[in-house]
Amino acid sequence: MRWNVTFRVLFMAAALAGVVVFARKSSGVEPATSDRVALRTLDDSPAADSAAVPDRARHFVGVGGCSAANCHGGDGTRGPVGSEYSIWIQNDKHAEAFSVLYNETSQRMAKLLKLDKPAHQATLCLNCHAPQNDPPFSNENPHGSLSALLDGVSCEACHGAASEWLGPHVRHDWAKKSPEDKARLGFRDTKNLWNRSKVCADCHVGEPGRDVNHDLYAAGHPRLFFEMSAFHANMPAHWDRNDDRQRTGPERGKSSFEAKLWAIGQLASAEAALDLLVHRADNARDDFVLRDKAAKYPSGETVAVWPEFAETGCFACHHNLDSPSWRQKRGYASRNAGGYPWGTWLFPILPTVVESTGTADLGSADSALSKLTREMARSYPNRNAVVSNAKELQAVLTQSAHKLDSQQLTADQIAAWMKGVSVVANSASQQSWDGATQSWLSLTAIHQGLTDVTGSTEKPSAKSQQINASLEKIRSHLEFPTGFDSPENFSSDPATAISAELQKIHDVLE
Ligand code: HEC
Ligand code: HEC
Ligand code: HEC
Ligand code: HEC
Repeated sequence: MRWNVTFRVLFMAAALAGVVVFARKSSGVEPATSDRVALRTLDDSPAADSAAVPDRARHFVGVGGCSAANCHGGDGTRGPVGSEYSIWIQNDKHAEAFSVLYNETSQRMAKLLKLDKPAHQATLCLNCHAPQNDPPFSNENPHGSLSALLDGVSCEACHGAASEWLGPHVRHDWAKKSPEDKARLGFRDTKNLWNRSKVCADCHVGEPGRDVNHDLYAAGHPRLFFEMSAFHANMPAHWDRNDDRQRTGPERGKSSFEAKLWAIGQLASAEAALDLLVHRADNARDDFVLRDKAAKYPSGETVAVWPEFAETGCFACHHNLDSPSWRQKRGYASRNAGGYPWGTWLFPILPTVVESTGTADLGSADSALSKLTREMARSYPNRNAVVSNAKELQAVLTQSAHKLDSQQLTADQIAAWMKGVSVVANSASQQSWDGATQSWLSLTAIHQGLTDVTGSTEKPSAKSQQINASLEKIRSHLEFPTGFDSPENFSSDPATAISAELQKIHDVLE
């Protein structure tokens, strides 16, 4: 398993300056990048006239429609604008997303899952790795030809199927159209941070039809641990990052962007996970008939298993039994001994965000989140109860996101978040590596937001330096040891050391 790939993204320093390096990279897997470029030029032609057929099902036109030098295929000499295609094809892993389905891990996954097709032909995988349609769940139709699949996760996977907007978007009046008018043509408003986070979460958390469950993990899929601010910072930007900052600043040069994106990303990721939870609860087969009888795993769908281990803290099951046991010493918080710790990755810091919008108190014992967590801790959770609690929680999250979106965050508000998170982070870190890592990611993003919004472009203040030093220490405790894809020695000791650093951060903020 190759968690280290994903894992590194979380801990990479955010490349916020947005300097684009045009290094050619080679994936080392078939088909090679150069072949893909050649194939694209041969096979894909812009389908601008499809806009004239409004009632035709929306579909992808392919990157061939975007890559011309005078459209999005510039050479990057004048910054990212106009060179979006070049940045994507040369630096963005999304362009490789289809080719990885030919690699050794994917081939073995297909074998272990007993797929009736190789990974690069399985809708199960293509829905996220090469979704060439909108909705993406029909790769087996004529638009899903090999040349289209080679695009991997391409422009339209994020910006929306272009069959209806390709033509209009090059006309002079496009800029005057409202986001709603554009959305009617299938163009997604990714300027809006909730929409943007949801676009990413659809694949990086999953949604009905796009599901990395524990079967896929056990077969070798890297763990999906998505956190919006880290992934956004680590995606090679083919847009001007300063635009984002300017749109979210109370005044020029002072931007709350990183903090806002972090908060909205928390809400959107959790919302996506709940969508998947509801879907799993609705579609699970009590008797596991499908799973047991099928000699082969269907390559066109994910089998709903209940409860789904992928939603539970991995290291609750995957760990060595130590004596004396630090887990027994720590206790199980609100769970019974041996109960499942559900939602350890996406939910520990969420209550702080929701509370700050005044929408609900998710920390209280009778909140939708508390009820859900209690139900999911049982070995066979009641599906109806889960669905109703999950839906209630989704409504709270959506409402919070809309409130946040319309707000201009102030330095005081962001500082209050940081303080709140440093407190919640303490108990989250005691409970699991997931909680500790989310705490670190959250504090890193909020601290960046706080630094930006106070407009300190000079040398960081003494306070800020202290916080950075503590964050760096926390990070070093979280890294997996060499050769491990899990926190082999994340015991009460690092948790205690992390707590001490969190306390320091809290004290600095006083
Ligand atoms: C819900 C969407 C989703 C589905 C379904 C899915 N994947 Fe992935 N896959 C991802 C994402 C997202 C990543 C990147 C993970 C990261 O870096 O955080 C990824 C990464 C991978 C990687 C590692 C790539 C690398 O650069 O090392 C392999 C291999 C892979 N997937 C194979 C598969 C196969 C085979 C299937 C089908 C059996 C599949 N995936 C199904 C979303 C998905
Ligand atoms: C993984 C998702 C993703 C993919 C793939 C992707 N984009 Fe983007 N794109 C974004 C995000 C996020 C932004 C920043 C938000 C914004 O400006 O709307 C953006 C911004 C842009 C912008 C700037 C819009 C503006 O008004 O400043 C253009 C143009 C663009 N993308 C074109 C492309 C093209 C062309 C491709 C394919 C070669 C592509 N994108 C692939 C996510 C993606
Ligand atoms: C259609 C599905 C899809 C969407 C939408 C999507 N991604 Fe991805 N993303 C993937 C897959 C699949 C990979 C793995 C590609 C590979 O390893 O070759 C990936 C890889 C990445 C990576 C590299 C991870 C690593 O381990 O190096 C980053 C960063 C990333 N995505 C960020 C984003 C962001 C930010 C957004 C939203 C703006 C987004 N993605 C939207 C499917 C998607
Ligand atoms: C409720 C217990 C449980 C949880 C939670 C759980 N797993 Fe597993 N996992 C298992 C069992 C049982 C096996 C099969 C082990 C065997 O056959 O040796 C397994 C196997 C695996 C394997 C293959 C065996 C190996 O050592 O490489 C991987 C990888 C894996 N799980 C990853 C994960 C990830 C990632 C998560 C969290 C998202 C997770 N698991 C959560 C019980 C669990």
